[in-house]
Amino acid sequence: MTAAEIRRAFLEFFKERGHLIVPSAPVVPQDDPTLLFTNAGMNQFKPYFLGLAKPDSTRIADTQKCIRVSGKHNDLEEVGVSPYHHTFFEMLGNWSFGDYFKRESIRWGWELMTEVFKLPKDKLYASVYETDDEAEQLWRGETDIVPSHVLRFGKKDNWWSMGDTGPCGPCTEIHIDRGPQFDNDPNAFVNSGSRRYIELWNHVFIQFDAQPDGKLVQLPARHVDTGAGLERLATVLGGHNSNYDTDLFQPIIQAIVDKTGKAYSNEDSGIPHRVIADHLRCLTFAIGDGAMPGNEGRGYVLRRILRRAARFGRKVDLQEPFLHKLVPVLVDTMGQVFPEIKDRHAHIARVIEAEESHFGKTLDRGLEQFETVITSLRKSKSLEIPGEEVFKLYDTFGFPLDLTQLMARENGLTVDEKGFTAAMEQQRARARAAGAFKTAHHVSIAAETDVSTTFVGYDNLSVSTRIVVLFYNPDDGMIVFASEQTPFYVESGGQVSDIGQVEIQTDDGPLVAKVNDVVRRDKALIHTAQLDGIHPVLQTAADGQAWLTATLSVPRAHRDPTQYNHTSTHLLHAALRTAFGDHVHQAGSYVGPDYLRFDYTHFSKPTSDELSSIESQVNEWIRGNYRVTPQVKSLKEAQALGAMALFGEKYGDEVRMVEIADDERIVSANCAAAAM
Ligand code: SER
Repeated sequence: MTAAEIRRAFLEFFKERGHLIVPSAPVVPQDDPTLLFTNAGMNQFKPYFLGLAKPDSTRIADTQKCIRVSGKHNDLEEVGVSPYHHTFFEMLGNWSFGDYFKRESIRWGWELMTEVFKLPKDKLYASVYETDDEAEQLWRGETDIVPSHVLRFGKKDNWWSMGDTGPCGPCTEIHIDRGPQFDNDPNAFVNSGSRRYIELWNHVFIQFDAQPDGKLVQLPARHVDTGAGLERLATVLGGHNSNYDTDLFQPIIQAIVDKTGKAYSNEDSGIPHRVIADHLRCLTFAIGDGAMPGNEGRGYVLRRILRRAARFGRKVDLQEPFLHKLVPVLVDTMGQVFPEIKDRHAHIARVIEAEESHFGKTLDRGLEQFETVITSLRKSKSLEIPGEEVFKLYDTFGFPLDLTQLMARENGLTVDEKGFTAAMEQQRARARAAGAFKTAHHVSIAAETDVSTTFVGYDNLSVSTRIVVLFYNPDDGMIVFASEQTPFYVESGGQVSDIGQVEIQTDDGPLVAKVNDVVRRDKALIHTAQLDGIHPVLQTAADGQAWLTATLSVPRAHRDPTQYNHTSTHLLHAALRTAFGDHVHQAGSYVGPDYLRFDYTHFSKPTSDELSSIESQVNEWIRGNYRVTPQVKSLKEAQALGAMALFGEKYGDEVRMVEIADDERIVSANCAAAAM
């Protein structure tokens, strides 16, 4: 049977038995702060079990998108290595909310497995909770299972709870013996961890609500919660060896083979294909449901998964961002059952691509660095990666600790975690010291009330000027200075500060330093720059014994894309107002060279049709090459001309009004603070 046939047969079976078929809940839980990701079919029904809400029907069935990445349920490092661990999977399930209980659940479980799916009865086993006499009797009385195949197990195997707290109860599971070809160990048996005996379907009899102190509070009603992993069923019913051989994964694996020319096998050489296929599913569904890669919580989990996929991609010579190109293959396979990934495919691919390219740049260098480290460890016959090396991988190459730990384990090594923490602490101390140096000197420059800097960066990206105050820290090469003029834009209206360089003239020739920060303090624009080596000439200047001339420059590669993105926020604002009405206001934004974000006020989420029409409108204006004209005006005058000013933004008497227009119409007019 194909996965689609199994899904359909399962839902049909329960529909015939009075169940309402509902769509999967999003994989990003909507209102359960105890959960990072939806990890079981019953999550969305938690309020029904607890008696906090009433379901539309007391019998429900569905296929639920689930993510299990770490913690109680899964181990990321197993995924792709084993034939059946996944980060993302589908769970088929049926529920009774205070309706039927153990008898029907067991009887129907057996009927579906043996009569619809036609699994051989003598190969099936049922496990029950050690004290659940009732379940054992029902198995013996309601089904024709081999009586000796009903087994009792303890809490570890036959008690299910959603987490440390929440709905829980004893369970009964259906297992199958796939035969000695999967494992010929004579001790292999149900729940022994063998690949020969695998669990197919869990039926939980929910009766309690676990409290934070561990107490079990009896629920007002008794419920049934079952879950069967579709991937496993597809493996068993399709006669496959591994979940990855099923039609849920094969199209993706085949696409990887086509792209790389690297054949797929069930052995270790197929690990990269399996990791990529699994992780692609997880990322696509999570991003499709609104999650974003990031540095915390859910976002961090996605980031780790993406980085792991990118790293395995390198093993099959996939150097350039590749994951996003596989999104359409997955959409073809699953978009019909889960239309949300079809609707949001462009967004999903864009988010994945941005994250891949961001990490890809450092990944290769990081992998080289990792190889160098382990080669030298092997030479010295050491089995532990020193904390400083782990820190370097983290700090310079963006390898999270657990990625390095994972790679270490794959190479039979461990990681000096304590050393890593110490190195991290040292760096924090250095950063604190540098921060203190910078802040102290920002304050002292601002206090010199006569320091005033003229911003010339709208017209010039490079200017030769005089540095009027400079502080220098020879220990780490940090320079803090203010000049008479600057082309550096200071963060304002969501647009990020410019970065660039300063070339300082000295008697010994020019010194070039990277400018990585600019801030405004009163009338002064204060730059922070970084320089390698020790330069006594700067020390002398800092002591006030020399004047310095310098050339400050902002690269076009930074400013141009930033400016385009800034203009695009105005276009987006105008397009949103056209689509939704004049109540749409800008509520914040990020404008950098890499991307833009635009926050706005509106009462509902845009539909995908609305989004595409807004997108087309913005693109049409861009292609129309409208004039972008800045003019300095009084705020009043600009507002009289219809220019939009940002609520809460501070403007001087004069504003810089930016108008986007052609001869016939004004697309947008916006105010920005004028005097820089
Ligand atoms: N909640 C149970 C599980 O996740 C049955 O669906 O296994």
